[in-house]
Formats: sequence, C-alpha cells, structure tokens
Amino acid sequence: MKYLLAESVQHLNIPPIVWEKKIFPDGEFLIRITEKITGKELTIITNITPTNLFDVLCTIDAARRSGAKIKKMIIPYMAFARQDRVVEEGEAVGGAVICSALKQFNIPITVIDFHSERICTHFSRRSVLLFLAQALQNEKQKLEQYTIVAPDEGSRKRASLIAKALKLPLVVLQKARKGQEINVTLTSSLPTTSVILIDDMISTGGTLCTAAKVLRNAGAKKIAGIATHGLLAGKAREKLRKTGINPVIVSNSLPVKPSAGVKVIKIETELKRIALE
Ligand code: R5P
Repeated sequence: MKYLLAESVQHLNIPPIVWEKKIFPDGEFLIRITEKITGKELTIITNITPTNLFDVLCTIDAARRSGAKIKKMIIPYMAFARQDRVVEEGEAVGGAVICSALKQFNIPITVIDFHSERICTHFSRRSVLLFLAQALQNEKQKLEQYTIVAPDEGSRKRASLIAKALKLPLVVLQKARKGQEINVTLTSSLPTTSVILIDDMISTGGTLCTAAKVLRNAGAKKIAGIATHGLLAGKAREKLRKTGINPVIVSNSLPVKPSAGVKVIKIETELKRIALE
C-alpha cells in the first residue's frame, strides 16, 4: 500500500509518495504527483482544515489522473464537522458542504472520531479514543478506579462505547446554553473520585474545564481528559492546567506538541490498520 499524505498531515510518521505543490505569483497553485504510481494501491490521508479544501480536492484529482487504484481516503481530523445543522436562521452548514464536495470522487472515506452523525452518511467512522484511554493505563494509572464522564449529551454515545469497552461506570453531564452562558449539571452521584472526561476534540478547553469544575464540586479528586483532536486553541493548555485536568491525552491527528500535562499519542499504526481493512 502506498500513502499519499497531504500537506495537513505531513507530521505523521508514514512514508508518503512524492508530490509537489507549485505556487504561482498570483497565488494559484498546482499539485503534481512526481512518483510513478500507475496501477499501485493508494490510500490518501489528509486532514480538512479551515482553509485547505481546494488543496484536498486537487490532491485527489492528481492521484486519480496518475492512474493509482485509490482504495480509501482517511481523514484524521475534519474541520467544520461541528457545523452539522442550521442553529440560527440564515447560517450555512459547512460540514455538509465538505461532504458534498468529497462525495463526487466516490472513494470510501473514513473519518477519525467524526464529530457529527447528522451529516455525511457515506463516511465510515472510526474512533481512536479507546487506544488513547489505554495509553493512560500504560502510565500505570489504574483504569478500574475511574468513571468515564461525557461532558454533554452529544458525547454520550462516544463515552458510553469507551465505558463499555473498559467496563467502567459512565456519567453524562447535562449542558444547557442560555445565550453565551453555559450551565453544566451533574444529575447523579459520582461512583468514583477519579474520572476521565471524554470528548472528540478540545478547542478552547471550555467544555472540559466547565465539566471538571462541576465534577470537582461533586468530589472528584483526579480528573483526566481524553480527546482525539487536540486543537488546543489560544490559552487552552493554560486553562486545562489551571483547572487541574491532568493528564490531558490527545492524538496526533493534528500536529500538536506535547507540553506539561498534555500527552500526545501517535496514531500512525491505527491509520495504517484502517488503510489495510
Ligand atoms: C462540542 O460539541 C464538541 O464535541 C466539543 O465538546 C467542543 O467543540 C470542544 O470545544 P471547547 O474546547 O472550545 O469547549
């Protein structure tokens, strides 16, 4: 299997086929695969970032025209997936726009810990959260002492899969929004004083930190946070540290750097496994 790694995932330690991007003075660019891949089996791996959709479309086009047998496309992280419905009248649904653009190529697409099930019914989904949770165990933390916590109803399904797989109790927090204000409540008791907050992504850290404060008030002593996509925007790391969520475990679906309290688990092996399925 050959791998075509787009610019957005060049941090992954997977040997890629050779391609180049020529940028013209007016800003247009041309993607060209320089390695001979005619007849070869190929998996395209790319993230969707807020700005690279046209790059991605051209990369797929170049691979097709080079005569490779495109087996699959794997998207470790897809931006805009949170835009899965109209919340306020007049809004676009960015996630659905990306799905329609990719559908034209008719390639099987697997997205890792895809935020929404509402859009893109033709995408397969895979989770690496269990893999990340096991990394916590490898750090000699006794997982059996933990409760898995979903920070909101939207995370229930995801967290419940992890709880079942690890045979741990599950607690789901309730999140209500009133304008800009977010109110999180715990409607049951906490089975253990060690908890693992599970989410698909950490952006500003607001969701996990708000949840952690509620759990702390309910008696939690040890709070870990596990999320597949470490966007860690702005002061997220500082916020997580000050709130005492430690460790925070994320994958390298995005090119995120480890720091005090933030561990990054490599998912290359998982991606290769998915490519060969
Ligand atoms: C929300 O629906 C998502 O699953 C995440 O909980 C959210 O996007 C995390 O963002 P932040 O870290 O900014 O709260």
